[in-house]
Amino acid sequence: MAEANNNKLLEVDDLSVKFSTPEGDVTAVNGLGFSLERGQTFGIVGESGSGKSQSMLAIMGLLAANGRATGRVRFNGQDLLAMAPRDLNRIRGNRVAMIFQDPMTSLNPYLTVERQMTEVLELHKGLTRRSALTLAIQTLEQVRIPDAARRIRMYPHEFSGGMRQRIMIAMALLCQPDLLIADEPTTALDVTVQAQTMTLLRDLQRDFGTAIILITHDLGVVAGICDKVMVLYGGRIMEQGTAEDIFYAPTHPYTLGLLGAVPKLDHEGERLIAIPGVPPNMSRMPVGCPFTERCSFVLPHCGTVRPPLVRVEGREAVLRACHRPPQEIEKMALEVLP
Ligand SMILES: Nc1ncnc2c1ncn2[C@@H]1O[C@H](COP(=O)(O)OP(=O)(O)OP(=O)(O)O)[C@@H](O)[C@H]1O
Ligand code: SF4
Ligand SMILES: [Mg+2]
Repeated sequence: MAEANNNKLLEVDDLSVKFSTPEGDVTAVNGLGFSLERGQTFGIVGESGSGKSQSMLAIMGLLAANGRATGRVRFNGQDLLAMAPRDLNRIRGNRVAMIFQDPMTSLNPYLTVERQMTEVLELHKGLTRRSALTLAIQTLEQVRIPDAARRIRMYPHEFSGGMRQRIMIAMALLCQPDLLIADEPTTALDVTVQAQTMTLLRDLQRDFGTAIILITHDLGVVAGICDKVMVLYGGRIMEQGTAEDIFYAPTHPYTLGLLGAVPKLDHEGERLIAIPGVPPNMSRMPVGCPFTERCSFVLPHCGTVRPPLVRVEGREAVLRACHRPPQEIEKMALEVLP
């Protein structure tokens, strides 16, 4: 097995996901590329249907039966897409873990938290029931479940939503994965619990050095926690850069629209520039830029000529796909964003 660049934990290159449907093939993810170093946090942002979840499910080998992934996904130098299901199974749940929006999709309602946690450790780490229990309680304490030694004997429905979220995070961290993929881990929670969950993820990352991929539709969430951010629309990368680049000096009309959709704190709930229209139908994508129909900067050739993803001159970390010059969008951002 060839060792790739060893600072890189994950290298994704030209990742695409196609689904076969009765109406024909649908390309849900198209040519994604990014890389992640150990201990980094990477944000994937975009509206509903932009391909966030499917791109991560593809990495995990968890696509629906009608889905197929192509491209290269190197994790610790090994290509996950080319791996035998048995080897992938070993990496999943052990080196890479994923948490989902709804904790009840990953927690079994009929088993106590203790049984679910110890089972994972017995299976993946070959621990005895007794040492598995000790480690499980410790991990619950790390995600700040009070009175963990007693509560571990309870069933998932006996916990509040926020606590269930913590239990799911604890389950994901049990085997101390190198990479944690968190798919909208806070949307089902109220704002205070959301903030606590984010703080918890940040602390865990500091303590364990776990790399995190955080999926969210809320750019505000990634600003505080992510090193790098990728903005997706219609299954393609619109813009990528450091969280600071994306948040303070966006160069893409879609990013600008997303930032405008972040409610301003001083006008509660008020939207600055909502993006008009709805995300495109994946089976009828324009040949050119996927954002064409909703873009207020649209040019005559946007719908027919696809803008390539290119580095922005003078801003090394920023990649963007747009026919407009980056300075034009930066200038507009300065004028309209708070
Ligand atoms: N099994 C499937 N067959 C056909 N199309 C699918 C299938 N699963 C997902 N899709 C399509 O893939 C596209 C991307 O979906 P994905 O779940 O990645 O969106 P998302 O960005 O995670 O959205 P959300 O924010 O709503 O979770 C959507 O258009 C969806 O309809
Ligand atoms: S390429 Fe055209 S349609 Fe797409 S974001 Fe840029 S200006 Fe808008
Ligand atoms: Mg999703």
